[in-house]
Amino acid sequence: MTIQWFPGHMTKARRQIQEKLKLIDVVIELLDARLPLSSRNPMIDEILQGKPRLIVLNKSDLADPSVTRQWIAFFKQEGYLAVEADAASGQGLKEIPLLAKELMKEKIEKQIAKGINPRAVRALIVGIPNVGKSTLINGLAGRKIAATGDRPGVTKGQQWIKVGTEMELLDTPGILWPKFEDQNVGYRLAVTGAIREEILNVEDIAFFAVKYLVRYYWEPFGERFELDQAPRDYEDADEIVAVMEAVGRKRGCLISGGRVDLEKASGILLRELRAGKLGRYSLEAPY
Ligand code: G4P
Repeated sequence: MTIQWFPGHMTKARRQIQEKLKLIDVVIELLDARLPLSSRNPMIDEILQGKPRLIVLNKSDLADPSVTRQWIAFFKQEGYLAVEADAASGQGLKEIPLLAKELMKEKIEKQIAKGINPRAVRALIVGIPNVGKSTLINGLAGRKIAATGDRPGVTKGQQWIKVGTEMELLDTPGILWPKFEDQNVGYRLAVTGAIREEILNVEDIAFFAVKYLVRYYWEPFGERFELDQAPRDYEDADEIVAVMEAVGRKRGCLISGGRVDLEKASGILLRELRAGKLGRYSLEAPY
């Protein structure tokens, strides 16, 4: 579901998260492993008001593993606990409650020293639409939790979900908006399907994807579409369009005069990419 974010929605979303912050100990910030910065809310530090935070790079099954490792190192260097996960298959989820507890270590130790029996760590998942918040909640809960409306403004009685004995999770995640100012951010999100194609032109999205993929992932790309010549100059728009046309010809997207229907070719290319047919890829790297 794609939400149209207007300033009023943002204010409401922010207020809802800040209400929830009063109830919890730690925040689980969910990012897309393929584009961690582009899938990050621009005001996240301000919104979370210094709450201890665990960064989870989700959909790591779709991302380039070596780039994901770089991102984990990057976030650690920034002073965060960070971990990769594939919420859809459950990979990496076991570690999450342990790391959430790790964030509360000092407080827990103090409580124990005072003879207080510490309660389970209370956590809230936050992230932009489509990053996998509901999937992660279900994965951690070990069952399907009823959707409570993935929209800012929809509130319902919130409940705690037990995740083992160590953690309790709020059943409604905090929904955040992505960055909009930078056009490349929009394209990265659109390539993964996180924002709708109606907002950006499908050929422009495919152009952006091809330009990046032929540069960093030529092998699987060339193999998939049976192309043997990588562009000589990745910055040359004509060369990128020529690749798109070659893809279109391979997929039979022809119109009168033997020309390639670039719109159709772009749609096919993006569908194959999103379905993982071109292998694992990341759209931005920290270094
Ligand atoms: P949200 O609550 O943050 O909006 O996201 P949600 O959990 O609805 O997940 C959005 C889409 O991403 C879903 O796919 C979900 O299956 C998929 N997804 C979530 N986590 C992962 C992951 O770690 N790896 C992969 N590969 N996919 C993930 P969908 O196409 O909308 O639905 P469906 O395919 O589940 O039917």
